[in-house]
Amino acid sequence: MKFLLVTDLDNTLVGDDEATQLLNQHLQSKRSQICLVYATGRSHASTCELISQKQLLAPDYTIAGVGSEIYQNATLDLDWAEYISQNWDKIAIASLAQQFKQLKPQSLTEQNPWKISYCLEPEADNSSILQELQQKLTTSGLAAQIIFSSNRDLDILPKTSNKGNALTYLQQHLQIPSDTTLVCGDSGNDISMFEQDVRGIIVANAMSELLAWHRKYGTTNHYLAGSACAGGIMEGMNYFWGF
Ligand code: GLC
Ligand code: MG
Repeated sequence: MKFLLVTDLDNTLVGDDEATQLLNQHLQSKRSQICLVYATGRSHASTCELISQKQLLAPDYTIAGVGSEIYQNATLDLDWAEYISQNWDKIAIASLAQQFKQLKPQSLTEQNPWKISYCLEPEADNSSILQELQQKLTTSGLAAQIIFSSNRDLDILPKTSNKGNALTYLQQHLQIPSDTTLVCGDSGNDISMFEQDVRGIIVANAMSELLAWHRKYGTTNHYLAGSACAGGIMEGMNYFWGF
């Protein structure tokens, strides 16, 4: 039987180099029992750079661009791409978002056919912009979701695609049950993972938007770790899986 470990990278698996290496060794010793998935906001290219820079284990799958892409090694999952392409009108959504001057487009390397990403100016009134943008998308009949992370990053994705939906797609594909699936994260783009019927670890250094979600919706399936980053993952694995 396999365990499915789905972890965010920045400020979750990565952030405390010593803890990352300790966890790596631990995972390596259980490698044949674990299906390892990295779920990140980064592009696939930037994920590969981080893996080599931080000497991370090679994952079985990568959920990149906040769930907009799924890779097995370097191969994009085309079934997922086709599924999330339905009712997704990137050009219309981008031209609507452009009307919001407080939204600064992120670099081209972070955009992909199913992900439009901006940075919100620090002094902007976050909640009213998010609300107004969502409202405009809805009244224009554009199917999209907005994901806000780290009080700065704003991603617009197809309604069907986020980290949580991508992980559930993989879980079904691999036929791994909920009680042996564990997700780990620290920020807003991880919330959709905690919303699935799985166990979850929120690392001690989590951002305010994830902690606020946990206060409101957290259940016994969600473990608030006492340690930051990879140390928190280690703690939660032991709590849920006993190893
Ligand atoms: C990563 C991505 C960025 C995204 C952010 C939050 O930093 O590079 O495009 O906005 O995650 O999801
Ligand atoms: Mg993160």
